[in-house]
Amino acid sequence: MSETARLILDGKEYEFPVITGAENEKAIDISKLRATTGYITLDYGFKNTGSTQSAITYLDGENGILRYRGYTIEELAEKASFLEVSYLLIYGELPNTKQLSYFQESITHHTLVHENMKSFFEAFPPGAHPMGMLSSMISSLSTFYPDSQNPNRSVVDIEKTIHRLIAKLPTLAAQAYKHNMGHPIVYPSNDLDYCGNFLKMMFALPTEDYEANPIVESALNKLLILHADHEQNCSAATVRVVGSSQANLFSSVSAGIAALWGPLHGGANQAVIEMLESIKEDGGNLQKWVDKAKDKTDSFRLMGFGHRVYKNFDPRAKIIKKAADEVLAQLGVDDPVLDIAKELEQVALNDPYFVERGLYPNVDFYSGIIYRALNIPTDMFTVMFALGRLPGWIAQWKEMHENNEPIGRPRQVYIGANERSYLPIDQRG
Ligand code: SDX
Repeated sequence: MSETARLILDGKEYEFPVITGAENEKAIDISKLRATTGYITLDYGFKNTGSTQSAITYLDGENGILRYRGYTIEELAEKASFLEVSYLLIYGELPNTKQLSYFQESITHHTLVHENMKSFFEAFPPGAHPMGMLSSMISSLSTFYPDSQNPNRSVVDIEKTIHRLIAKLPTLAAQAYKHNMGHPIVYPSNDLDYCGNFLKMMFALPTEDYEANPIVESALNKLLILHADHEQNCSAATVRVVGSSQANLFSSVSAGIAALWGPLHGGANQAVIEMLESIKEDGGNLQKWVDKAKDKTDSFRLMGFGHRVYKNFDPRAKIIKKAADEVLAQLGVDDPVLDIAKELEQVALNDPYFVERGLYPNVDFYSGIIYRALNIPTDMFTVMFALGRLPGWIAQWKEMHENNEPIGRPRQVYIGANERSYLPIDQRG
């Protein structure tokens, strides 16, 4: 039985189809609203507006559920490798042995970037924010691979562009880090897996042998999986809208990196650590900062708290909080900021302001504490988020193209001046 929604406007009744999703979510299809009624809808921040139908990720904000292609993140974070999860998100199924080895092999052999890109890094000032460098470098990849500039090329060409991007983003991320450290870059090692290779490119020095700590490698693998996709979040929606104009994948992902940088989105993981360190320097008076976050006259927000969709708990935050305890214990790291984070969580979750608004720790609240323990500097935290989110952005961009979705172009309600005539300058007020 097809359901419909009825709308009465100016005394006239209209019917619109109701769409039911695989998990019984309901949506009113208003594709013909303006053509039939002359009205549009208005929904700041698209809080109530779906932009697509997607088969990639399902999340249930009320019950704290997150699944990639039907698999729970709890299982994937425990049992899968990041490249397996990347394959799953992009192609829809977990790879078999042959598929995974082809995927790994292809990515391993695309990890090098053109030598000319070294001069781009030399042009950045010392201390340049790595997200600014990464967004520029990823967009520049489109100039080195002109065949990537047409997103309607063959499936084989698109697949090569996808593999190039997955392979080169870690290389460029590590080079951004080395630029700011003033250290020589470390070239990719084809004998290492994805996480091991990234850690070596980040931390190896010509003056000493380097071998990634398996605890660090395992923690990184888990963090990347937990960040891999999150349906139509701000940066994924950005990648879709930019890609919907037929812009190439590199440029679309570069725009996604820029969106992720914002402190209300992926930039929150850096802002959380900066906030916790300010609280520590300020003497650790947690209630004072919680009160600041509640004060409407104060722009301060509790970074790492709240979420557009999760109104009970972010399942990723639960896993990362547990992993933070485990990783710091295994590495013998005693970080007072972790204790402050846990105490702050307790103070906030016993405060009606946060409980009434469904404000709980999100994915960014504890992730930075693990990154610190892995010796990753704070300004690289959002780069780590981008590394994890890359397969999700690619999957969203690919699905949008495969579904031949139209160019993203929202409407508006105009509230400016009505028609008026030009006045010569000597007649203006
Ligand atoms: C990510 O969308 C995704 O899926 C994102 C993400 C992903 O994986 O891609 O999950 C990753 O971006 C996580 C979010 C990281 N950002 C932060 O931690 C920044 C702090 N959080 C917020 O600014 C806020 O909670 C947002 C941006 C995350 C969500 O904002 P919404 O959904 O637009 O909610 P809102 O701003 O309308 O807030 C509702 C109320 C408001 O108060 P009232 O007007 O009802 O009185 O809650 C308050 C807000 O003032 N509020 C906060 C708060 N977050 C919301 N008050 C204090 N501290 C906060 N952190």
